[in-house]
Amino acid sequence: MSKFYDDVKQGLSSNPKRLYSKYFYDKVGDAIFQQLMHSPEYYLSECELEILQQQSADIADQVTDHFNEFDLIELGAGDASKSVFLLQGLLDKGSDFTYYPVDISQNVIEQLEDKLPKILPSIQIKGLNGEYLTMLKQLTEQSSKPKLILFLGANIGNMNMDHATTLCQKVQELLKPGDLFFIGFDLKKNPLTILAAYNDKAGLTRDFNLNLLSRINKKLAGNFDLDAFYHYPNYDPMTGACKSYLISAKDQEVSFSDGKDEVSIHFKQHEAIFMEISRKYSIEEIEDLAKAAGFEITNHFLDSKKWFVDSLWRKN
Ligand SMILES: C[S@@+](CC[C@H](N)C(=O)[O-])C[C@H]1O[C@@H](n2cnc3c(N)ncnc32)[C@H](O)[C@@H]1O
Repeated sequence: MSKFYDDVKQGLSSNPKRLYSKYFYDKVGDAIFQQLMHSPEYYLSECELEILQQQSADIADQVTDHFNEFDLIELGAGDASKSVFLLQGLLDKGSDFTYYPVDISQNVIEQLEDKLPKILPSIQIKGLNGEYLTMLKQLTEQSSKPKLILFLGANIGNMNMDHATTLCQKVQELLKPGDLFFIGFDLKKNPLTILAAYNDKAGLTRDFNLNLLSRINKKLAGNFDLDAFYHYPNYDPMTGACKSYLISAKDQEVSFSDGKDEVSIHFKQHEAIFMEISRKYSIEEIEDLAKAAGFEITNHFLDSKKWFVDSLWRKN
């Protein structure tokens, strides 16, 4: 049984139903996400881009205060279109590092290995296709150099608070004293601004969510009717959780299979599939998270609107 089949079967047999957002990213999902990053409502990318374009020299100074020869591992690198400014800043300081982008999407790793050396000719790059912690563990076993871990784009928001704490703790356990963890968080702000980012007028977030049903159709011989589900985002300013759902427009039966086992799932009209959380943080919550995971905060780098922060943490 494939892990994808297993996870989809388990998620859609649960009550309430859910799918895992890590499966958004196939070739089509990567392309939709890259378009979404440029949509007027999706402020997250613009804010983090401003931080990395304008403050990379300062960030690189703080990194090189700690070490100048290291492994640079980026968890969930995507197209690295923002990280490239930090990579340039570090190269400008004469840092000696290999860049290891980790991503669950083989497609983005192939694109990065092709594209990045054209933009940064002196970069040493080795892409790692797989899950965050599996690949980080593998690398820490292979190399004893100091580590700088990047986890940008508010990827951490795609976990609830307990999972985020567990992930940061596990990263901390894999690191050595003095190693650095650089994490991007989307900050709490006007709820309407947040909600609009997950409900863009062009419908890219809708297409991004529906693409997972399409992936099930392609990979698991599924028969989801994409017109029979609609996208519903919602933001709770009390918890900071922005959640995306696909809602079944009618009573319907959907089946899919891994070639051996077939499963049929009933959807009631108005029934929701929980697709993704994008959690928003306050600075205090970020500080509590760093402490709970065993890190000391070195610095917060904010954009000019104070909508986003890239926070540099150090393992003691
Ligand atoms: C929201 S995108 C952000 C990409 C990039 N960090 C940025 O800021 O533009 C998330 C990326 O993380 C990858 N990803 C999601 N879950 C993952 C996991 N569990 N392990 C490894 N990569 C993952 C996706 O394939 C995607 O490229």
